Amino acid sequence: MVPLVASRAVPMSRDDLPGVPDPELLDPRRPGARGAYERFADSIDREALDWLFDRAMQRPIQPEGYVESRTRFFGPSGAPSPAPHRGASAAEVLRIFRERVAPMTFNAQHPGAFSYFTPPPLAMSVGGEVLAQWLQQGVDVWHAGPVGAFVEEEVTRWLRDLVGLPDGWAVLTSGGVMANLMALTVARERHLGALLDRPPRGAALDGARVYASDQTHFSVARGLDVLGFPEGSLHVVPSDDRYRLQTEAVADAIAADRAAGLMPFAISAVAGSTNTGSVDDVVGLAALARREQVWMHVDAAYGGAARLSARDAARVPGLDLADSVTIDPHKWFFQAYDIGALVVRRREDLHTTFHRSPEYYASSTPEDAPLNWYEYSIEGTRRFRALKLWMSWQHLGTEGLGGLIEHNVDLAAYLASVVDAADDFDLACAPELSVVCFRHLPIRSDGWPVDRLNVYENALQRALEVDGTAWVSVTTLRGNTYLRAGIVNYLATRSEVDALVSALRRLSEGVLEDLYRG
Ligand SMILES: Cc1ncc(COP(=O)(O)O)c(C=O)c1O
Repeated sequence: MVPLVASRAVPMSRDDLPGVPDPELLDPRRPGARGAYERFADSIDREALDWLFDRAMQRPIQPEGYVESRTRFFGPSGAPSPAPHRGASAAEVLRIFRERVAPMTFNAQHPGAFSYFTPPPLAMSVGGEVLAQWLQQGVDVWHAGPVGAFVEEEVTRWLRDLVGLPDGWAVLTSGGVMANLMALTVARERHLGALLDRPPRGAALDGARVYASDQTHFSVARGLDVLGFPEGSLHVVPSDDRYRLQTEAVADAIAADRAAGLMPFAISAVAGSTNTGSVDDVVGLAALARREQVWMHVDAAYGGAARLSARDAARVPGLDLADSVTIDPHKWFFQAYDIGALVVRRREDLHTTFHRSPEYYASSTPEDAPLNWYEYSIEGTRRFRALKLWMSWQHLGTEGLGGLIEHNVDLAAYLASVVDAADDFDLACAPELSVVCFRHLPIRSDGWPVDRLNVYENALQRALEVDGTAWVSVTTLRGNTYLRAGIVNYLATRSEVDALVSALRRLSEGVLEDLYRG
């Protein structure tokens, strides 16, 4: 390979660094450092793979509950100890990792882990993350991470294409919460500001209204709080019997608010809700948004990934009709944490909202107009998040990623069909994507008050956690507690689903005994 520039002599190592264990790991110029770095990298890999092949495959989560876990991690004091004054060798640090950290993880790679949206990361994604951290590209101002800026530009182009906004713009975020906050910020600055014809700040925000369903992620309400909107600015519209926000209900809410002198300015729909994976009527809501001249945001943090599958893309229609779309590759693109994204229809919306010009970010060649990502984000220095997704996408292609999505959608349909067909289970609703909410109905539970069944479902979830066959979370839907299987796990098969259902039945009797005894 022809080097771009003539290589320079490696500078001498310095000998005035503080005396620490493994000094060669502080300075790659030291004699023998390359070997030391290689041994170190090998030992990290070995540690990770021992964890993956031994620990993570055994059970989804350790059996201890929170209080016991604290004691196990912190020791009898149950509280963090002070920072070490003296360093320890790398081998010793890894031993401490092995003893204190490795046994206490949530194991997303376990095939029975049906968790929140906590996927097993693809090996290529982990590899990309490791490389990104070595490269230490600061993706804020172009000079701090020149190639990081370009990789992000390329991978966000892929996300824009996926969403159907190829002429828009997108920026990577820490996750869906940050993307939703940034979307609301843009909507406030660009849209509400124009409607009000004065700066959207302070008292000017009184009476502004955003419409979202009772299934909307908490980050939308919190985002409005953070942005200074007064209480009540989020108009929560009830979802339908399948937990979807319907256009008519929002149209009625907007009409009532306008009649009351309020100012509707945005709709925030969800395409793949956290509770059930429900998909709002995005197409109808986008048409309403156009008619009413309000901003249209779609939180597709989880569901947006369905666009990867030609077969399942139509499950999340209408993203191309939005002004802004949240999409979170660390959910259903099986990416290592963290990586989220916000896609917008107009590049200048992000730029006008977030651009500032600190003197220390000036370029000596401003005529080049380098791409400074901090101008498009709330965040400043950001990790080189793009690399892992860029590498994973190259590795599997849209087709391969889409195949993993289809596998999860099929598995969710299978679980739903099994519980729906059984007398001793109750399915909350048919899954639209890959989340299944259901309850076990133990023998003689007919006529139980709601509270009692809720207590039972919680106890059953905990019993499953201790048992270790599989893991599901619990959630509340209209006052009822449900077990929630978030199937964002490409390692799971029907046999883990069958094992989950059998385990719940098997554990039921013991749970009932405990409850009656208690
Ligand atoms: C629909 C939806 N939006 C936003 C978020 C927030 O994403 P994150 O926790 O990655 O910031 C979640 C998380 O589960 C979600 O399900």
